[in-house]
Amino acid sequence: MTISVENLSFAYEKHFLVLKNISFSIAKGEFIGIFGPNGGGKTTLLKLLLGLLSPLEGKVQVLGRPPSEITDRLGYVPQVRRFDKSFPISVLDVVLQGCLAKYRGYGNFSQDLKEKALEALERVGLQDKAKLAFGTLSGGQIQRILLARALASDPEILLLDEATVGIDPEALREIFQFLLNLRGKITIVLVTHELQIIAKEMNYLFCVNREISTFSPQQVCEHFAMGLYHPPLMKDKEHD
Ligand SMILES: Nc1ncnc2c1ncn2[C@@H]1O[C@H](COP(=O)(O)OP(=O)(O)OP(=O)(O)O)[C@@H](O)[C@H]1O
Ligand SMILES: [Mg+2]
Repeated sequence: MTISVENLSFAYEKHFLVLKNISFSIAKGEFIGIFGPNGGGKTTLLKLLLGLLSPLEGKVQVLGRPPSEITDRLGYVPQVRRFDKSFPISVLDVVLQGCLAKYRGYGNFSQDLKEKALEALERVGLQDKAKLAFGTLSGGQIQRILLARALASDPEILLLDEATVGIDPEALREIFQFLLNLRGKITIVLVTHELQIIAKEMNYLFCVNREISTFSPQQVCEHFAMGLYHPPLMKDKEHD
């Protein structure tokens, strides 16, 4: 299994489990959706898969190893709530950050990295924006640049945390199309609220609400067909 999670529990503060006894596995090349209520633990789960947090109990294995040992094989598009638009960094520099872990110490260091970064920008169709200041871009462009950054190191697994929040419908469709083209080549885990558009393309979906439940795309789509949004799909939170 590409991702294997066994009896995982996690708490930021003692006595409050954010994730409780979660188990699941994801096979190579699968396209998996994650949804759930605000505060349900979606971002926390991704951070555990990235090795940015350590389990309180249980085990997380990614590509057969503890995730912190293989971070250079993972691509991550973080959830961006706000950022300082005046922060003076160019688009190319943002994408270059994505190459650093993997290609550090290789041959003609700066030129090789730059080519990798430009290639990644081309993949998201924004190569002409390389020299602009990051803060001048639109919301949709920012998400695509962050996607380019995550792809710059040719990851085997791509983890995206609400990478499509606040972007216009056209950019949303472009990003989803882009991900669909990667389907089968890279394992993709996508946290999203845009289930109507993308759920049917996924292998299956997890609802994360302290615990985890698995849904098929058909189950999710049937709920939409009945005019329901996702709360009826969820289990109630239990109390310890
Ligand atoms: N660094 C932190 N320290 C303490 N508690 C935290 C921290 N980060 C998150 N939490 C808490 O952990 C719980 C899960 O948060 P998390 O961000 O994983 O949820 P989420 O499902 O990603 O929510 P959203 O849909 O709003 O992004 C929440 O109760 C949150 O307040
Ligand atoms: Mg989150």
